[in-house]
Amino acid sequence: MKITYYGQSCFAIEMKGKTILTDPFISGNPLAKDIDIDTIPADYIALSHGHQDHTLDAIAIAKRTGAKIIASYEIHNWALAQGVENSHPMGIGGKWTFDFGTVLCVNAVHSSSFPDGSYAGNPTGFVFWNEEECIYFAGDTALTMDMQLIPMLCPPLDAAILPIGDNFTMDAKAAAIASDFIKCSKIIGCHYDTFGFIKIEHDNVKKIFDDAGKDLILLDIGTSIDF
Ligand code: NI
Ligand code: MN
Repeated sequence: MKITYYGQSCFAIEMKGKTILTDPFISGNPLAKDIDIDTIPADYIALSHGHQDHTLDAIAIAKRTGAKIIASYEIHNWALAQGVENSHPMGIGGKWTFDFGTVLCVNAVHSSSFPDGSYAGNPTGFVFWNEEECIYFAGDTALTMDMQLIPMLCPPLDAAILPIGDNFTMDAKAAAIASDFIKCSKIIGCHYDTFGFIKIEHDNVKKIFDDAGKDLILLDIGTSIDF
């Protein structure tokens, strides 16, 4: 499994030769100015919730690539209404098997509306797996006891993408506790540094994970890691 970071909560997760793009917010992110939304590949676009810092480039990329959107029923309808032809609605607790593997839609404790304020359904996280690999993408969420359900329902995780920026989501200390809940010590941080409320001290958050005996991976935008 190869994971490439495009800033904020946007990752390309490659599984079985397919690319799953999460929460594309690139053209509005000055930190991702070197990423071109007109060339990045996608076979699927998983959207955790409706906020603009997760959905800004989803429609443009879906239209260019023909990628299938995976999201709440409300976000699915929003995408269809904008001319996206390929979309799959899911609800929390449900799973579906695609050609790269299975997706379980899991709880996230956050809010979810579109930029115009209209309702975007419940915020979600996703677990993606097949017989070779398994990864949890948490979306925007607080630390929640529900994370303990993931190891009961899914194969062992190879890695997890967790928000660490605080203010709108959990911070690194809470993410280290989440790492225990989900039984995964390889954590890729997301949702930090993009704007003022979520700027973090990298040395501090690394120390929190070092002290907990866990790995916190902070990818430079445009770089990849293999699991
Ligand atoms: Ni949000
Ligand atoms: Mn957000």
